[in-house]
Amino acid sequence: MASPVSQLATRIAYGAMQLPRVAWYVGHGEIMRRLSQGVRRREGTSARPKPQTERPVPERRRLFADMAKLFQQDLANVEAGIYPLPADHDGSWLKRLHRSRLFFEDLPDVHRRRESGEMRQVLTDDIRGKRPGYYLQNFHFQSGGWLTDDSARRYDTQVEVLFNGSANAIRRQALVPLHEVFAGRDQRRLRLLDIGCGTGRFLDFVKQSWPRLPVVGIDMSDAYIAEARRHLRRWGWLNLAVAKAEAIPLPDASQDALTSVFLFHELPPKVRRRALGEFARVLKPGGRLVLLDSLQFGDEPDYDGMLELFPQNFHEPYYTSYLTEDFRSIAAAHGLAHMRDVNAFTAKVMVFDKR
Ligand SMILES: C[S@@+](CC[C@H](N)C(=O)[O-])C[C@H]1O[C@@H](n2cnc3c(N)ncnc32)[C@H](O)[C@@H]1O
Repeated sequence: MASPVSQLATRIAYGAMQLPRVAWYVGHGEIMRRLSQGVRRREGTSARPKPQTERPVPERRRLFADMAKLFQQDLANVEAGIYPLPADHDGSWLKRLHRSRLFFEDLPDVHRRRESGEMRQVLTDDIRGKRPGYYLQNFHFQSGGWLTDDSARRYDTQVEVLFNGSANAIRRQALVPLHEVFAGRDQRRLRLLDIGCGTGRFLDFVKQSWPRLPVVGIDMSDAYIAEARRHLRRWGWLNLAVAKAEAIPLPDASQDALTSVFLFHELPPKVRRRALGEFARVLKPGGRLVLLDSLQFGDEPDYDGMLELFPQNFHEPYYTSYLTEDFRSIAAAHGLAHMRDVNAFTAKVMVFDKR
C-alpha cells in the first residue's frame, strides 16, 4: 500500500503530464473547428449530403465528463500497480510543433476530399497489386492513406485531436487484461504480438509495463513500421515487421497474448473473419486475445448517434458494418471464448481466451 505522500506525488505527476496534453489536443480541435467554419462561410453550402442521424448524440459536456472518468480509471490502474505511471513520449516541443504543422497543413486537402468524396488517391500504378484493394484508400480522407512517411508522422496528432488527448489513455486500458494473465509469470518466457501496430504507441506502453517481454508488432504499412521503429528505439526484445493481419508470418500456437488496437473497424467484414482465424491459429491454447476498438451500437446508447455520424464525416468505409459486427460469435467459431467487454470512453476492450 503506497503512503499518502507517494500517492499524492503520483497524482500530481499524473495530472502534470495529462492535463497539458489534453489542453494541447483540445486546442488543436478548437482551431480546426474554427478553420472549417471559416471555410464553410467562404464556400457557402456544401454539395455533399448533410450528415444525419436520428439516434442520440452526446453534448460536449457529457463527453468531457466521460473522458474525465477514463483518466480517473487510468490513474486508478497506476495506483493499483497494474501499470507504471505512463510516459506518453510525445517528443520534444520542436517535434510536436512540427507534427502540428503537418496536421494543419493537411486540413485543406482533407476538406477537399471530404467535399468531393475522393478517397482512392493512394491507388497508384506503383502500389497496385502490392496491397489489398480495401487497404488502398485515403482512410479519414488523410493524404497518403496509410502509405507515406508524412501520413505516419501526422497520424498520432490526428488521433489525439479526434479523442481530445485521450487516445493513449484509452490504449492503456488494454493492458489490464494482459496484466491479469502475465502477473507472476517470467515475462522473458512469454510472447506478445500486436497486430496493426501502427506507429507503435500501444507497444510503448506494453514495454513500459514489461520491459523484457519479447514482443512483435506487425502492420501492413512500411511507413508506419518505420515510424514505430523510430518511436520504440529505446526498447530491446522487440521485433517490427511489415505483414498483414490475415496472413501472420508466425508459427501455430506460438503466442501467449495477441493485441490489436483500432484495427478491426478499418477491415471489411470478410477480412475481419480471416484475421480472427489467423489470431486463433498463432495463439497458444489458454492464450489471451485483447481487441481494443470503437464502441459498437448499444454499448453506450447515448453515443449511438455520434457513432453513426462518424463515418459520414471521415472516410471510414467499413465502420458502419463494424458497429453491428458480432465479434463473440466470429471468435467462438475459431475457438476463442469471449471473456468480457469493458467500455473505455468512446472505445471498448474486448477480451477472449483460446480454449
Ligand atoms: C487506425 S490505425 C491503428 C494503429 C495503432 N494500432 C494505434 O493504436 O493507433 C490502423 C493500422 O492498421 C494497419 N492495417 C490496416 N489493415 C491492416 C491489415 N490487414 N493488416 C495489418 N495492418 C493493417 C494500418 O496500416 C494502420 O497502421
